[in-house]
Amino acid sequence: MMHSVMSRASNWRLLNNAAAVLLSVAVLIPAMASAGETLSDSRRTDLNHLLRQDCGSCHGMTLKGGLGPSLLPEQLAAWDVESLAAMILSGNPEKAMPGWSGLLSDAEARYLAQRLLEGDVQ
Ligand code: HEC
Repeated sequence: MMHSVMSRASNWRLLNNAAAVLLSVAVLIPAMASAGETLSDSRRTDLNHLLRQDCGSCHGMTLKGGLGPSLLPEQLAAWDVESLAAMILSGNPEKAMPGWSGLLSDAEARYLAQRLLEGDVQ
């Protein structure tokens, strides 16, 4: 009697562990998929808006510089898409540049980086 209660309890624990593993797979797969994600037109429009409004609030509405430095292509010559995207996602905690990883995916940060390097932000 005692034995069967114990083994039921440990079966339950096994089941719980399996559920936890399944849950973390379900959460991780979409996060991994977002690395190669293609952005919808409406998300691009949102991001273009974010670039002007939110980034522009510190970097100047035309991104020529303000509290933060100019983000015009000629100022960013030393950067590539990956390093710019990394800067956007993690920010610089010692200066006033916030990290955007809570709001933007890797693909979205790379999109913004590309826009900055192309300089066609309007
Ligand atoms: C709260 C103000 C603020 C906001 C909002 C902000 N930045 Fe910044 N950003 C800064 C400051 C200040 C620096 C300079 C940090 C340093 O000197 O390392 C900076 C630096 C940068 C740099 C490095 C430029 C260089 O030449 O060193 C990039 C790229 C950048 N920001 C992109 C962005 C983007 C893209 C956004 C919007 C998603 C954004 N920033 C939003 C304040 C801000």
